[in-house]
Amino acid sequence: MTTVLYPGSFDPFHLGHLDVVEQAVALFGGVVVAVMHNPEKPSGLFSTGQRVDMAVEVLAHLPSVAVRPFPGLAVDAARDAGAECIVKGLRSASDFDVEQQMAHTNRAVSGVRTVYLPCAPSTGFISSRFIREVSQNGGDASSLVPPAVARVLAATFPPRRTS
Ligand code: PNS
Repeated sequence: MTTVLYPGSFDPFHLGHLDVVEQAVALFGGVVVAVMHNPEKPSGLFSTGQRVDMAVEVLAHLPSVAVRPFPGLAVDAARDAGAECIVKGLRSASDFDVEQQMAHTNRAVSGVRTVYLPCAPSTGFISSRFIREVSQNGGDASSLVPPAVARVLAATFPPRRTS
């Protein structure tokens, strides 16, 4: 079994993330989901512990998947996890531009390679940023996240009354 690292901020974990993990399991066997800090998103919504707990619950049906928090660099997390490579999901050309720069940098500084997985067409529009925005303003983002995450969102941000 090959183990790969799937790093992200997962704030919160959504259906697109789940699709990438399931694809990576089918292709490689083992996946370590690394819950990390994105320096471009300093004001996260959920704590690292909450993000880990949600991902653990969502991925409980996949025995070859582990979820771990990692501070620092994704390439160090990949080494610590014994991962063969990093995997990333791609939704769009703009994702590709950002991911390509990170992949080249990660390979240049460490030798760790990145493999891209195209997202399922049904999840290509989903982003944690808009899930946060909808939820924080009393909207219902439950169609974009697994049930375990929907429960946490509903408890954290009670839905706006419609009557
Ligand atoms: O889900 P995100 O926010 O798009 O994930 C981005 C993340 C966390 C994978 C990226 O910011 C990252 O790799 N952070 C760890 C720090 C790191 O390795 N920086 C060097 C990037 S070339």
